[in-house]
Amino acid sequence: MAQFPRRDYSGPPRKPPVSADPAPAAHTAWEGQAGWYDKHQGDGGADLYQTVLLPAVLKRLSAKKGQRVLDVGSGQGVLGRALAHLGVDAVGVEASPSLVAAAQGRAGAHEKYVLGDARDLAAALPGQAFDHAAALMVLQDLEPILPVMQGVAKMLAPGGRFVIALTHPCFRQPKRSAWGWDDDRRQQYRRIDGYLSMYQTRIATHPGALPGTPEAALQTVSTHRPLAAYIEAAGAAGLGITGCDELTNPRRGTKGTRFAAEDLAAKEIPLFLVLTAVRLR
Ligand SMILES: C[S@@+](CC[C@H](N)C(=O)[O-])C[C@H]1O[C@@H](n2cnc3c(N)ncnc32)[C@H](O)[C@@H]1O
Repeated sequence: MAQFPRRDYSGPPRKPPVSADPAPAAHTAWEGQAGWYDKHQGDGGADLYQTVLLPAVLKRLSAKKGQRVLDVGSGQGVLGRALAHLGVDAVGVEASPSLVAAAQGRAGAHEKYVLGDARDLAAALPGQAFDHAAALMVLQDLEPILPVMQGVAKMLAPGGRFVIALTHPCFRQPKRSAWGWDDDRRQQYRRIDGYLSMYQTRIATHPGALPGTPEAALQTVSTHRPLAAYIEAAGAAGLGITGCDELTNPRRGTKGTRFAAEDLAAKEIPLFLVLTAVRLR
């Protein structure tokens, strides 16, 4: 598998230090924000989930009534509930005990949530098999990803799909990408300050939070890797990429003289990526 250079762009030393090695028990920064996240998603998902992410992931999964779907890093169960509404049996694995409790508290008959590490799925769900699997906004939150891909591949039959939704690694690198305004050309552009190096950094959980509010202080750790790292890890695990959706943020330009240019950039530059992989052998 290809090796990608690692660099740390996050500035002064981080506390606590972030390890790139798999921990025996998964630690997730999301445990500290489980209450906020559960409220933010609610039963049906936040706006972005309802309008963009859930429709794209459900379409690619195309799970049928009665099938079993593994939800890797299931959070408070937003995907599991959407699947259960379709009569699909959803099983989530999640590292945050509070999010497992929240998911279980909202769960209906077709859902089950288990505390575990996505990098050791065999330990979390011994002997289980699934028709399809998904990881919705999760793989950029953990490292390494190869054991996740391998664990999923082992639980799928040949032809089973693994749908992976991410912030777009080409256009949305944490702390190394931003919208910019070119006054001469009257154009909104996307500034990219780095791409090929892999790095981990702390980011605001809720970038839209009002400064000074408790929500504005919430942080999680995000991992950037180039697109090739996802495709290579999938291939090394026996998963072949068969689909790729590049999704834009429905939030459009602010009212004002830049509206048309901002709107064009928002429609043209995708901030989310959904990869569909199938188990090959
Ligand atoms: C951005 S949240 C997404 C949650 C859910 N999929 C959703 O879309 O709402 C990322 C989730 O990954 C979980 N996570 C991070 N590392 C994990 C690991 N090693 N094993 C299992 N879950 C993990 C976090 O606890 C968090 O719930």
